[in-house]
Amino acid sequence: MPAISHANEFEGTNMKTIVSIGVVLIFVALAGIAQQQVAVEQQSSSETAPKVPYRIVGTMSQLMVDIIFPTSDDLFYIVRKPPSNDAEWGAIERSALTLAESANLLLMPGRARDQDKWIADARLLLDAGNLAFKAAKAKDYDAIVALNEQLVTACTTCHQDYRPNYRRRR
Ligand code: HEC
Repeated sequence: MPAISHANEFEGTNMKTIVSIGVVLIFVALAGIAQQQVAVEQQSSSETAPKVPYRIVGTMSQLMVDIIFPTSDDLFYIVRKPPSNDAEWGAIERSALTLAESANLLLMPGRARDQDKWIADARLLLDAGNLAFKAAKAKDYDAIVALNEQLVTACTTCHQDYRPNYRRRR
């Protein structure tokens, strides 16, 4: 039955063509993806990096007095009035979140005093704040009390390094 075998042969050739076109298309697609990746990498290199339009609003002193001081106090003095309901826990959670995120504000270009010790000091606050936020979400009173010392250290370390006229500890 030559007709059938011819048809099979024809189909076979067709399949091969389709497969090779498919392979070519895959290569083209991959090349496109590779090019896109290069473009993204180039974009994020320093000169072409898109400028994020953030703006420094508060001074360092205002951040300390209006954001960092009151929110850390809420955690330091949790022992005076331990939260006893969801609303009170919610307040503690907000303070811990605000405090933790305020460390990111300290890390912003324009605020960071240098790229070395300042970054390390601010990260102490970021770490302590982050742990406090987790503890607050879990309504873990003991964990927050236990974090107090780490939190105080975060404040005093940076103050010793960068706050003018701050009493140096011996
Ligand atoms: C990464 C550095 C850094 C960390 C962390 C930090 N501070 Fe400060 N703080 C400063 C600097 C710098 C000043 C001085 C600001 C100024 O006078 O311009 C300051 C000043 C202050 C002041 C005095 C502000 C004024 O003008 O009267 C208070 C209060 C304060 N900090 C509280 C805290 C507390 C509480 C913490 C921890 C929960 C903390 N800070 C963590 C850098 C830091």
